[in-house]
This record gives sequence, structure tokens and C-alpha cells, in this order.
Amino acid sequence: MSEGILLAPALVTCEGPGMPRRGRSLGEVNVIRDAALAWRDGVVTYAGPASGMPEDARQRSGPTPRVLRTEGTVVPGFVDCHTHLPFYGWRPEEFQARLEGQTYRDVQGGGGGIFRSARLLAGASDGEVLDFSRRLTDEMLAHGTTALELKTGYGLSVRGEIRQAGLARRLAEEIPQTATITLLACHAVPERLSKDEWVDAVCRDLIPAVVGLVDAVDVYIEDIAFTVDDLRRVADAAREHGLAVRCHADQLGHSGAAEAAVAAGARSADHLNHVGPEGVAALASAETTAAVLLPVSTLFLRADPPPAGDLVNAGAAVAIATDLNPGTSPCLSMPEVMAVAAALYRLPPLAALVAATANPAWVLGLHDRLGTLEPGKRADFVVLDAIDVAMISYRPGHNPVRETWIGGERVARAG
Ligand code: NIG
Ligand code: FE
Repeated sequence: MSEGILLAPALVTCEGPGMPRRGRSLGEVNVIRDAALAWRDGVVTYAGPASGMPEDARQRSGPTPRVLRTEGTVVPGFVDCHTHLPFYGWRPEEFQARLEGQTYRDVQGGGGGIFRSARLLAGASDGEVLDFSRRLTDEMLAHGTTALELKTGYGLSVRGEIRQAGLARRLAEEIPQTATITLLACHAVPERLSKDEWVDAVCRDLIPAVVGLVDAVDVYIEDIAFTVDDLRRVADAAREHGLAVRCHADQLGHSGAAEAAVAAGARSADHLNHVGPEGVAALASAETTAAVLLPVSTLFLRADPPPAGDLVNAGAAVAIATDLNPGTSPCLSMPEVMAVAAALYRLPPLAALVAATANPAWVLGLHDRLGTLEPGKRADFVVLDAIDVAMISYRPGHNPVRETWIGGERVARAG
């Protein structure tokens, strides 16, 4: 039975008005000093000042509750709502080629990029892919990630995508984190097919075949990939089968993808480096579409940053994520993402914390269970090695996570 009480010098629950948190309310969070967090059966029963903890919360934590005292601040576990796991192998040669002047488009056009990862995945056994990916999810655990998205997109055929979705499902079942699965069949057009033939196959054959296996569908809208019309078709098929819609939008160039994502009722528009004022306005008034920003891929592509401040000020629901993938963002650390979001996007630490916990939980449809620390939510939390939350964003390259807990059980500990 998982029950206990944690006494901490500070606690940030990330709960607040509305879900997802929109606009400037993103940074409006209380830092509770001399706090207590209590849980029973893995579920939070109390989160607040230690002095205000009701006696029954103390007793509810069992006949002999574990009372632990931390030196660092306690925050919700990080929710990484945009990764490309499971994949197999890295692509450091492309990284170096880009440093020498090639663009991401050049690399992809030469049969590298997504096509290279597709070949690596096809050439690896299921066990090899799962071992490779599990090492990364273990490392994510040590960096405080307690829930994450898994995605396909390197299958590049109906069979290949079903295989990758199945591998994602097996990975989800093996790891301690909560994971959702997204079908990104429209990531690149498979060789020997036209774009329209592939979109037909995705809508007609693939989406019906993965119902029960995946939670959402994603489309990569770019001049080297798919169009807003393709998004509309895929979104219709997804909706018919009860799947949520996500969208890689305006990453390398402007296409109006953000507006299209809002119009399609997508759960998120991700990247947004080249979103225009209409896209910002659409996201600001969108009821169901969050803006997911991926600052490490901006850094690694040396891309123009998205108008992050405009999105927040206009009232969009902003989340941040790693985009963990072997091409544009080989980074798995949410603390690192918070640091880069501060440096490149001027996202203040407390706003970044909500954008890394409560809001991405909403993006993944998990907000009823996790993302904040309040009674009824799962006791997924991180103990930092510092008291000031700003230390997360202030020290890139340093892992500020001392302990990671899931469902009231400690699953990782520094050293
Ligand atoms: O989110 N640009 C599209 N998709 C990924 C990169 C995938 C890859 O290069 O393998 C992204 O950046
Ligand atoms: Fe991505």
C-alpha cells in the first residue's frame, strides 16, 4: 500500500484557475512554504501548508504513515507531451552536416532525416527497439518525467506504423510512467507512393486498424511533408474513430497550420516557430487547442523562435515539451527544456513549470488524473535539489531532480 506524508520547505502544486491554464494565468501559482503532501493508495489526500494539515489526513495516511522530510522543493512530476519515442538509433552525422551548412530540408531530401530513422527502425528487432527506448525513458525518469507521449512516424507503411504503435504500447506497459500514444503516420511520404495515396491509406486502412492502440493522431504540416488539406482529411477520419488530433505546425515555414489545427478541433498545435498573427489569434481564442512549444528543437535547428510572449499575452494555453527525437531534438530532459525556454523564449520559471506539468497533462487528456498536486490526483511528484524553482531554469546542463515519485512510490533517486 502506498501511503505517506512528505514535509517540504516548499511545495508548488501548479493547480489554479481553469484547465488548461491560459494566458498570463500560466505563471500565477502559489509557492507554499513549510508544506506537507499526503497520499494514500498512491493518490494525494492533502497538499498545502504543514500547519493546516487536518488530523484526519494524518490518520488517513495509514496506521504508521511514512513521514519523510525533504530538503528541496516538491513540484508535480513533469509531463512530456511531445516525444518521438519509440525510435532506434541516433543521427549525429546529420547534426554535423547541419553545422557545416546543410539545412534540415536538405538532409531529409537526401533520404536522411525521418527516412533514415525509418530504415533504422525497420532493421532493428522489437527487443532492440524496446531496450534502446527504455534506456531513454529510464533517463527521463531520473530527470523527473512521470508521464509522456509516445509517437509513431518512423513506420512509413501501414504495417510499419502498426508495428511502431504496437511497440509504443508495449513500452507504455513496461515503464513506470503513464504514457499515451499518438499515430504520426503523416510524418513523411513513403517512397513509391504519392502523398495523396498515402493519406488515402492512412484514413482508409491505418486509422481504423489502430483504434484501441493509440489515443491521438498527428500530422506534420510542412512544404516537405503534408498540407492543411491533409490535416482536414486525417482529422475527420480521426474524429470518426474517437481519436484526438495533434499537429506539427509552422515549424520550418509558415503554412497557416496553427489556424487549421484550431479549426480542426486539434488538441494542440506544436512548434509554431513561423506562426503568424492569425495563428496567434486563433490559438488565443481556441477552446480545445493548446500551443505546444519545443525550444530545444528551435535551439538545435538554430530556427527563429515562435512568438511565445505574444501567445501567452494573447491568452493561448501554452505547454512545453522535449520533442525528443534523433533529428531535431536529442534532448530528454524537461528541466533542460525549461532552461532553454527561459533563454530563448523568456518564459519565466514558474510559468514554465505549469507549462511542463498541468498544461501538458491537459494536452494528453490526463489532467483528471495527474499534472497538478491536489487531492484526488495521483501522487506523481519530483523533489528538487533546491528551494527556489528558478534554479531549474537557471542551471542548464544540471539535473535538479533529486527524487522522482510515481503513485506515491519513489522510482528514481540521484546518486
Ligand atoms: O518534431 N520535423 C518533424 N518531426 C520531428 C523531427 C523528426 C526527425 O527528424 O526524425 C520534429 O522536429
Ligand atoms: Fe515532433
